[in-house]
Amino acid sequence: MVKKRACVFISGKGTNLKSLIHNTRNYNFPININLVISNNYLAAGILFAKKNSIPYFVVDTSQRNFESLILKKIKKNKIDIICLAGYMKILSQNFIKNFGKKILNIHPSLLPKFKGLNTYYKIIKNREVHTGCTVHVVNEKLDSGKIIVQKKITVYRHDSVESLKYKTQKLEYRAYPEALIKIFRYN
Ligand code: GRF
Repeated sequence: MVKKRACVFISGKGTNLKSLIHNTRNYNFPININLVISNNYLAAGILFAKKNSIPYFVVDTSQRNFESLILKKIKKNKIDIICLAGYMKILSQNFIKNFGKKILNIHPSLLPKFKGLNTYYKIIKNREVHTGCTVHVVNEKLDSGKIIVQKKITVYRHDSVESLKYKTQKLEYRAYPEALIKIFRYN
């Protein structure tokens, strides 16, 4: 099987990146990670790229042309799919259009519920009984593209932001690989 070339965008810890790298070791997994992009020099997740000899590129997003710098790298590396994993910058419509291929994102709620930031806090405040995570296609609206995979868990009364985050992220490490398998099985 010829694996697709993926680029993972991160801003922070990169635990989803770590889990995806782990999955790429499986012969049947449809992607390899050929590039990691971060908008944050201090993102701990860059370490996973280093450890696994994956080329990485940190871009200063205060620069006006930062998206064209990213696009250049992506084109040079012949990237087939972008996976956002905790990337805290919104991609412009222009970027999405110019890349022209699938961009996925993972969000820690059962979308369309609780788009945007402070998700766990909103879930607890709203006394939700269930929550989960969603892998979706990125479009020009925040957390709004086509849903590929969704996984659900129960929210208990004793749950806190920390416990919800812990449980949801464990789900995410299964949801993202599943979404990639689903996408490339049918394409
Ligand atoms: C994930 O929980 C994801 O849902 C959200 O950002 C978090 C990133 O975590 N978009 P990590 O950097 O992969 O550890």
